[in-house]
Amino acid sequence: MRMSGRLGLVTAAASGMGRAGAIRFAREGAAVAVVDIDAEGVARVVEEINGAGGTAIGLIGDLTDDDFSRAIVHDAAKAFGGLDFAWMHAGHPGPARVEGMDMEVWDLGVDLNLRTIAITTGEALPVMRKRSNGALLYTSSIAGIKGSDRSPAYSAMKFGVVGWTRSLAQRVAKDGIRANVICPGGVDTPMLRTFVARPDQDSTHNMDPEEIIATRRAGYPMGRPAQPDELANAALFLLSSEASYVNGAALAVDGAMTA
Ligand SMILES: NC(=O)c1ccc[n+]([C@@H]2O[C@H](COP(=O)([O-])OP(=O)(O)OC[C@H]3O[C@@H](n4cnc5c(N)ncnc54)[C@H](O)[C@@H]3O)[C@@H](O)[C@H]2O)c1
Repeated sequence: MRMSGRLGLVTAAASGMGRAGAIRFAREGAAVAVVDIDAEGVARVVEEINGAGGTAIGLIGDLTDDDFSRAIVHDAAKAFGGLDFAWMHAGHPGPARVEGMDMEVWDLGVDLNLRTIAITTGEALPVMRKRSNGALLYTSSIAGIKGSDRSPAYSAMKFGVVGWTRSLAQRVAKDGIRANVICPGGVDTPMLRTFVARPDQDSTHNMDPEEIIATRRAGYPMGRPAQPDELANAALFLLSSEASYVNGAALAVDGAMTA
């Protein structure tokens, strides 16, 4: 098993890529704290993992709450006896508009894309230093490596996640802790629906999100968005010891979108 004996947490793990990752890591032998605001979703994922003979606990709360972003580290470490890895996957599309931007949505985007990862990371480092082979993983986007006219605000935040990861990797490498970031293109999850349906000036927003996704399919080099498992597989590699010399990498998993 590729994550045997590893102890960790995944945020935004009640749905989509986070859910797929939590289940995948557990299947590969990791103990996983499933972190999300959606209590029912968390319960389902925890039950699925434990029911299959794996080890999971649920940590339910709002990652815009600084105390919760801190507590998840200690709650997971207490339950499992330490912490080796953390996939800080939670994020938010932010506002699509530039003129007339909704600054509350901007703040929510900054909180969920950047603030929570800074807090959780700061709390996790001393805990991870107590064990060897710590691995941090973040989620950016192709919007974090390439500009997009649809999303200046989201790009600002997701470029920030890449910058954070690259700098942090250099800072903590000597502690035996790696930090990498995954950059998905479109992934078939609820967030993709939220993303495409944001109110914007070029206004496709009165269209049904499924219709928007269907009209944009031709824009995918592979003719389709990714499935969550395809991102979970990449996350598994980056968090496992197979990636022992992959550090500070921003891995595009985007079906050639940015190639
Ligand atoms: N889906 C895509 O097309 C896509 C593409 C690139 C990057 N991303 C990034 O992936 C991540 C989202 O993942 P997904 O697509 O798997 O999403 P998803 O919609 O499947 O799941 C998002 C999860 O986040 C949880 N959540 C929302 N607000 C929260 C909060 N305040 N506190 C705790 N949990 C909260 C939700 O309950 C949900 O379970 C984000 O970082 C996003 O920027 C997504």
